[in-house]
Amino acid sequence: MTPQRKMEMVHLTQILILLLCLVPTHILCVSNCNFAAIFNFGDSNSDTGGLSAAFGQAPYPNGETFFHAPAGRFSDGHLLIDFIAEGLDLPYLSAFLDSIGSNFSHGANFATAGSTIRPQNTTMAQSGYSPISVDVQGVQFSDFHTRSQIIRQKGRLSQALYTFNIGQNDLTAGYELNMSTDQVKAYVPDLLSQLSNIIKKVYAKGGRSFWIHNTGPVGCLPYVMDHFMITAAQVNKYGLYGCANSFNELRKELPLAAFTYVDVYSVKYSSIGHAKKLRFENPFLACCGHGGKYNYNRFIKCGSKKMVNGKEIVIASSCMDPSVRVSWDGTHFTKAANKWIIDQIVNGSFSDPPIPFEFGLQQS
Ligand SMILES: *[C@@H]1O[C@H](CO)[C@@H](O)[C@H](O)[C@H]1NC(C)=O
Ligand SMILES: *[C@@H]1O[C@H](CO)[C@@H](O)[C@H](O)[C@H]1NC(C)=O
Ligand SMILES: *[C@@H]1O[C@H](CO)[C@@H](O)[C@H](O)[C@H]1NC(C)=O
Ligand SMILES: *[C@@H]1O[C@H](CO)[C@@H](O)[C@H](O)[C@H]1NC(C)=O
Repeated sequence: MTPQRKMEMVHLTQILILLLCLVPTHILCVSNCNFAAIFNFGDSNSDTGGLSAAFGQAPYPNGETFFHAPAGRFSDGHLLIDFIAEGLDLPYLSAFLDSIGSNFSHGANFATAGSTIRPQNTTMAQSGYSPISVDVQGVQFSDFHTRSQIIRQKGRLSQALYTFNIGQNDLTAGYELNMSTDQVKAYVPDLLSQLSNIIKKVYAKGGRSFWIHNTGPVGCLPYVMDHFMITAAQVNKYGLYGCANSFNELRKELPLAAFTYVDVYSVKYSSIGHAKKLRFENPFLACCGHGGKYNYNRFIKCGSKKMVNGKEIVIASSCMDPSVRVSWDGTHFTKAANKWIIDQIVNGSFSDPPIPFEFGLQQS
């Protein structure tokens, strides 16, 4: 593709995003909303313990920087959803599936690592994708809603913030089945329509404030580059493809809802593109991993252990200083990168509509 053509693609996606600005502002309730709770739907980018509770713990050194122990997150510390909770003065979200020490008085997290929008026709053992796809998360939300006392308190549901952070695995799932980029692109409308269905179900139960992240730039992540041998340019443009129009439709259909579409893609992309300027080291090098061009080996992932002389040792351990790295484990971002990302999106400059969240995020 010529540079000229690439620029055209970039402009096209930007125009699609701009087209989203059609919603009247009086119904928006995102800044200064006093959200009483957060309900999150997603994948590993926002999993705070779901996969760990159901299928086995994210091993050490995950969690080392902040929690000082594995904390159900695939990162050394905070995920974006943790910074969002902090910013809204709410406790970190307990995973719906976690029965130990959980507290759902301020919401619940239905995300699990490996989740997709479309239910996969492969088992977790075959492909690694979580069976807890977003439709299952919707069923869990419905169950939570029906059975919980908290949520029944008047007004509580509509005072909650509903965050969606999913879709990235749907893109890689197609490549996993050896599909071409065009074949992946062909099912993107189906992804958006299935995601819209879940949002409509949440709306029907009273949800009014929605915060929707687009997918990250999968083509720039070490695990994708290593495994699929495809270039950033081939995949990246589909991270956004079609999303804008789809959410525009939703806005018309669900007039009482406030949708904030957050272009996390661009922020993550620029954290990788401008890594040096931001004093991050090589953004394509995983902090926690093992060998190869990207310090990433899909068979020896972060925290992998090996028996040596009858003793278990971690062979994919953490780098010296995760705070100067963008990529934690080849797939997920470090706490430091997540902090930089939240700092960029907090004033609304990557949101549509472009209103600040006015979090008063604490520095950490
Ligand atoms: C759950 O968290 C809320 C708010 O932080 C707190 O008031 C409540 O006591 C907690 N409940 C339990 C059982 O720990
Ligand atoms: C799984 O199979 C069903 C039935 O053939 C199909 O409709 C669906 O699109 C498939 N899902 C994926 C993710 O390929
Ligand atoms: C995809 O292609 C690879 C390499 O040709 C092959 O080993 C693998 O079995 C294929 N996977 C599927 C699901 O067809
Ligand atoms: C939003 O914050 C970022 C990071 O601090 C800054 O670079 C950007 O100029 C701000 N944008 C606006 C519209 O205030």
